[in-house]
Amino acid sequence: MADVPPGVKGMNDILPPEVSKWQFLEEKARGVLEAFAYRELRTPVLEYTPLFVRSVGEVTDVVEKQMYTFDDRDGRSVSLRPEGTASAVRAYVERAQWNKEPVTRWYYLGPMFRHERAQRGRLRQFHQVGAEWFGVDQPSADAEMIAMLVTILEEIGLPRSSLQIVLNSLGAPEERAAYRDALVAFYDDHRGKLDEDSLRRLQTNPLRILDSKSPEIVALNHSAPVLLETLSDQSKDRFHQVTARLDDLKVPYTLDPRLVRGLDYYTATIFEIKTTAGELGAQNTICGGGRYDRLVESLSGPPTPAIGFALGIERALLALSEPAESFESAVSVFFAPMDAASLAYALPIAHRLRVAGIRVEIEHRPASHKNLGNQLKRADKLRARLAVIIGGNEIASGNLTVKDLAHGTQSEIPAADLESKIHQLLD
Ligand code: HAM
Repeated sequence: MADVPPGVKGMNDILPPEVSKWQFLEEKARGVLEAFAYRELRTPVLEYTPLFVRSVGEVTDVVEKQMYTFDDRDGRSVSLRPEGTASAVRAYVERAQWNKEPVTRWYYLGPMFRHERAQRGRLRQFHQVGAEWFGVDQPSADAEMIAMLVTILEEIGLPRSSLQIVLNSLGAPEERAAYRDALVAFYDDHRGKLDEDSLRRLQTNPLRILDSKSPEIVALNHSAPVLLETLSDQSKDRFHQVTARLDDLKVPYTLDPRLVRGLDYYTATIFEIKTTAGELGAQNTICGGGRYDRLVESLSGPPTPAIGFALGIERALLALSEPAESFESAVSVFFAPMDAASLAYALPIAHRLRVAGIRVEIEHRPASHKNLGNQLKRADKLRARLAVIIGGNEIASGNLTVKDLAHGTQSEIPAADLESKIHQLLD
């Protein structure tokens, strides 16, 4: 027989019990987002390619090298979404959302796709929980969003002391353009030290050179002009207000005047959070975001300030050291029928409990699996609290044998009272 074709590289199956850890994170994140008055948005995973080219940016790594782009059967270029902001803005503009809700708060959860070099914490299909907030440009909003993000991380069990919250401001687009010119002049003076990649970026997107990992360029960058220092008083003052509101909210942060983000749409405040928790290694940036006050307008909407973030779910989960099993709810009751007739008798009873929301497993397999010892072993493996044993005697008397597996006790319970008794025992 031919081997099964393997799953796509960098795209994972998420099986139980691991999936319980995901559900835990998703539930916690939703809880916090809903408390901050965000509402869920669901958009398709496929978009026409120009959306990403015009928002994320034509000369970003994401668009240049990482998108899954192909022509659909109508010959139109489509791409699997590499991130969620572009789709949210498209939906916002296409639906004229500003008419319905001048202040719109949306969140989303779902898969994103980037053809990166796959390694621990870096996948080709990964998942984000993200939020986008349209219509407010007050510095207090930036602080609120960062504080919300920290709350999500704390709720999932990452201590605040393990988080490093890094901020910078890119100022207004005009200021960034002036900075870009200053940067080009600086790198031009040091052309001899630039590698091939940086020389190319010098032509296309010089800010990205600041993000280079090459040791020579990192050293050179120490003497490069610093954006935060070149900003107007107005931009500096705005940024100062963001940090003042973070102080009010008791959110600790560090300023990194060299922080640049890999996506082109940002203006003013940008941020990233790294963690020292868990097993993340080099990929320890678990979330990032910032303001993008010009993006709605550049995609043909009215001028609308906006800010957002996205948290990488895989990376956040790698930071949580508890084993996946501890997130899984165990089976509550294991039904152990001793033969086929007992199974027929037990099935409607088990059904009743299940309809009442109790987590029940029942052994359906034939006689060889119906040995009591084997069944109790399986109940143990499933971490069942109770086992209900049903054989000829139980059918004849109408009393079921209920074994409390945690305490090792046993009782006879009339079939009709089983549900209430089980509730009692489980409490
Ligand atoms: P991003 O920084 O590109 O921002 O991604 C956010 C987070 O997604 C990262 O911090 C990381 O945890 C996770 N992530 C990104 N790429 C991968 C990958 N290949 N494998 C695993 N995890 C990954 C955005 O996507 C923006 N849309 C955030 C935003 C929303 N800005 C404004 N609104």
